Amino acid sequence: MEEEEGEEYLFKIVIIGDSAVGKSNLLSRYSRNEFNLHSKATIGVEFQTQSIDIHGKEVKAQIWDTAGQERFRAVTSAYYRGAVGALIVYDISRRTTFDSVHRWLDELNTHSDTTVAKMLIGNKCDLENIRDVSVEEGKSLAESEGLFFMETSALDATNVRMAFEIVIKEIYNNVSRKVLNSDSYKAELSLNRVSLVNDGTDGSKQIPNKYSCC
Ligand code: GTP
Ligand code: MG
Repeated sequence: MEEEEGEEYLFKIVIIGDSAVGKSNLLSRYSRNEFNLHSKATIGVEFQTQSIDIHGKEVKAQIWDTAGQERFRAVTSAYYRGAVGALIVYDISRRTTFDSVHRWLDELNTHSDTTVAKMLIGNKCDLENIRDVSVEEGKSLAESEGLFFMETSALDATNVRMAFEIVIKEIYNNVSRKVLNSDSYKAELSLNRVSLVNDGTDGSKQIPNKYSCC
């Protein structure tokens, strides 16, 4: 995460979850509005950068995608280093991918050294006819772990933009709060020449609902 002149933000967000849950397609849907029915398993690491406007500030999200398959993964610690947001993805039509969520959360917690805005994503909600994990189960896991929750479909684009943007806005709020509470900010305040941060309004109020489903 970087901050320049108080005007530009760059947030690193990681996408994690078992192989074939749809991580790469969520990213391509969000960054290029593309979906690939026959996408290949990711090897190594890829990332895309996406900009959004929050309170008139340009916020860039650098979104990292890696292999769900262990044998294709790059160095784990490097993948997580500096991440301030995470999407933990499972496939609502395959329970085993939901069962793995704890493992992914453990790995994330082990490697992260800062506050991470986390969202649990139940992807492929277009596959209602072969659903294997209920919405309630997703919600309740998210609640017990303190995560945001959404069901998405990279195929028909349901909730994809919303999911990424809630995470980005939450990161922005975390950073703003941190800056507002920091000694350097307070020192600047006392000198009455603050130009660094936003007005401190709580952007989470703009998020209509912590839980959203297909
Ligand atoms: P790894 O790179 O191996 O970790 O997999 P991944 O999580 O990146 O999965 P990927 O995005 O490659 O998608 C795997 C398969 O699921 C592909 O055939 C996609 O077309 C399909 N898929 C992804 N998202 C959806 C979705 O929302 N709905 C449906 N029906 N299929 C999806
Ligand atoms: Mg992939």
